[in-house]
Amino acid sequence: MIKRKFLSLCIAILAGSFNLSAQTGTLSSQLGKLQSATQTAQGLLIRAENGQVFLSVYQPTIIRLRAVNQTFKPDSSQAVIRTVTGGFSKLTESSTEILVNTDSIQVRISKSPVRFSFYNIKTGVFLSGDDERIGLSWNGTQVSNYRKLLPNERFIGLGEKTGNLDRRGSTYVNWNSDVPAYALNADPLYKTIPFYIGIHDKATYGIFFDNTHKSFFNFGASTDDSMSYFGAEGGELNYYFFGASSVSRLIEDYTWLTGRMNMPPLWSLGYQQCRWSYKPDTQVLEIAKTFRDKKIPVDAIYLDIDYMDAYKIFTWSPKNFPNPKNTIDQLKGMGFHVVTIVDPGIKVEKGYKQYDEGVQKGYFATYPNGEFYTGTVWPGPCHFPDFYRPEVRNWWGKSFSALTEKGIDGFWNDMNEPAVWGQNIPDLIQFGAKGKQMTLREARNGYGLQMSRATYEGTQDILGRRAFVLTRAAYAGIQRYSAVWTGDNASSDAHMLLGQRLVNSLGLSGVSYTGVDIGGFIGNPSAELMMRWNSLGVYTPMFRNHSEINAPMREPWRFGPEAEAVMRKDIEQRYRLLPYIYSAFYKSTQTGLPVALSLAIEYTTDAEVYKEANQNEFLFGDNILVAPVESNKTSTSVYLPAGDWYRLSSDVSYTGNSTIEAAAPLHDLPVFVRAGGIIPMQTVVQNTSEKGDGILSIHIWNGKKGSSYVYYEDDGSSFDNEKGSYYKRSISFLPAKKQVLIDKVAGSFNSQFTQLNMVLHGFDTKLKNIMVNGKQVAISRAANGTASASIANQTSSISIGY
Ligand code: GLC
Repeated sequence: MIKRKFLSLCIAILAGSFNLSAQTGTLSSQLGKLQSATQTAQGLLIRAENGQVFLSVYQPTIIRLRAVNQTFKPDSSQAVIRTVTGGFSKLTESSTEILVNTDSIQVRISKSPVRFSFYNIKTGVFLSGDDERIGLSWNGTQVSNYRKLLPNERFIGLGEKTGNLDRRGSTYVNWNSDVPAYALNADPLYKTIPFYIGIHDKATYGIFFDNTHKSFFNFGASTDDSMSYFGAEGGELNYYFFGASSVSRLIEDYTWLTGRMNMPPLWSLGYQQCRWSYKPDTQVLEIAKTFRDKKIPVDAIYLDIDYMDAYKIFTWSPKNFPNPKNTIDQLKGMGFHVVTIVDPGIKVEKGYKQYDEGVQKGYFATYPNGEFYTGTVWPGPCHFPDFYRPEVRNWWGKSFSALTEKGIDGFWNDMNEPAVWGQNIPDLIQFGAKGKQMTLREARNGYGLQMSRATYEGTQDILGRRAFVLTRAAYAGIQRYSAVWTGDNASSDAHMLLGQRLVNSLGLSGVSYTGVDIGGFIGNPSAELMMRWNSLGVYTPMFRNHSEINAPMREPWRFGPEAEAVMRKDIEQRYRLLPYIYSAFYKSTQTGLPVALSLAIEYTTDAEVYKEANQNEFLFGDNILVAPVESNKTSTSVYLPAGDWYRLSSDVSYTGNSTIEAAAPLHDLPVFVRAGGIIPMQTVVQNTSEKGDGILSIHIWNGKKGSSYVYYEDDGSSFDNEKGSYYKRSISFLPAKKQVLIDKVAGSFNSQFTQLNMVLHGFDTKLKNIMVNGKQVAISRAANGTASASIANQTSSISIGY
């Protein structure tokens, strides 16, 4: 015994790691002292007493840090789509530290013990770095990073997380979970996006901890208030440090790294009606017809689990949908797109195609002995496709022909945490191709991403045009494949407001196409709540009404004629705004910036933005500010940030940097437009396939400051936009010159709008004419004082003087 102890002591000394944890494995270990630093074209390798760290440069503003206490394993990521672009531009060394630079960031590495700190290279400002006491740490398989917490530091992001906009003082876990009717402070929910943004003084930075194991983030919730930490139950200590100097640049960099969304099908941005479940087929047709009869615009109707035969994925219920092609043809005839749900669980039943094929080919997740894992979901006992394997994704993707051949072009991926009754799938269940195998501990948080990927790739391929994909579970990078919604919320004002924070936070975390179940999935909203939530839905990237099987029917006409009129008016507003919304999505495809933007993006250093009363406010696209408000209030205080603002519904103007009391009747959600803001609108259509009247109204609200706006249009459905078939032009408002300039069109697509209607809000009341390319055009005045003038659309530039 003594001999053995002596031997291991010698080994420890020889290995240079005289450290308790290395001996016993029971206590945590940290890096210890620096032993060597080697610079390569790929980065900088640091060897320390108890581990090694590799630093590499993805962009001058993006540095990756990988650390292990043993040896590096092969590199892999489900989120990251980029690789190293080069090494550090400069290295300097002193007796106490090593400094490496990019054009934007300096990393200072202290030698004893090894700790990492990041600085802005130009200003010399400290951005973020290790807590001197701990830094990088290993504790069994657990990896973590303890970081310095500054007195005035705020944290935002982390995706779909409850709590306040500023996450300081909170702690979170990522472990994708099925949480029906989640509590207002529930954690974890359905998604894992381990990317957050830190803000202090005038500095910003971001950290993406790319690790799919169960992970945790502690923003100074339970320490001495001088450190924050994050980590995971396994895997590598692997994070990307972002040093860009604004929140929007950080989001751009993060989505450069993890990808951006592609243009969605236009129809999916219209109003969507869902329910668990419309059945049988005659009910679906009747609901669709009622929308048309009542002239409530809508583009999509959903089929939840009851369209299937015994909940078998890729089948149709002979009872509920005996002739799906015919039913869907009729729906299409009424201008509807139909979305069907798919869950991952494949029913264990001999003779069922997907089961037989999956078993024969060995496509399901397994126990360690190779037997297929069985868990119970809607269909009863199920096996679960191993989406980590390319051949399984391919097989899954091709199976969608059972739905597409009937006319389906939207695919709703649910229960993909994955969820089973009883919740806790054994941790040892195995996924992944030979050589890349992993257990559920590593696979769970990425499972929904891989399922969405399989669905996205398969359905775009079969359809040959854009498909709409929606998912509940997700990991970082999900924006490349799918829209997301926030799962099984409940019918309450508090949930409505929480939902907005979830949407805003997802937007801070790279996910633009987001929605919540409007009205609340579980429960029964009052007419007031339904109206209010529907009016907020107008300004939600995905506008979907959904309710569970036991809830009373939830269509816009179920709450009495008054409520119906209000909801119709609001849904019409969504359709009016579609040119603006579509352009906002385009911007997101180019920059990764969300469509619903937390005020923290633009007004990062304004403390008002983080106050509980103001934290749900957001910008919708470039120029609209929305102030969500409970349904039982008829007026509310609204914080208007710097600049001048107009109320959208009345054109009453306000000076920003102030809190105003805004009337908030149920028919008029407090929505504001930025002075100088440009908003293109169309005339109401009943669905996006309707041609409309060919008039694009370009609304401009007068202001002291100039502005510019990019208008974007394409066919809304094909991939031709990727080959240059789009119609894009920028519009500039130049108040100093009393001019509006509409640039010449870029792209080869012909706009659906032949006529432009310039609508001027808040301009000189004596204005009688405008000059269009030097020619005088008369304006007409509406009762509310707006001035409008009609001009023929043309692809060359248009200069408007007023
Ligand atoms: C889950 C989904 C919900 C769906 C239901 C039935 O609860 O989150 O949206 O309606 O399953 O499929």
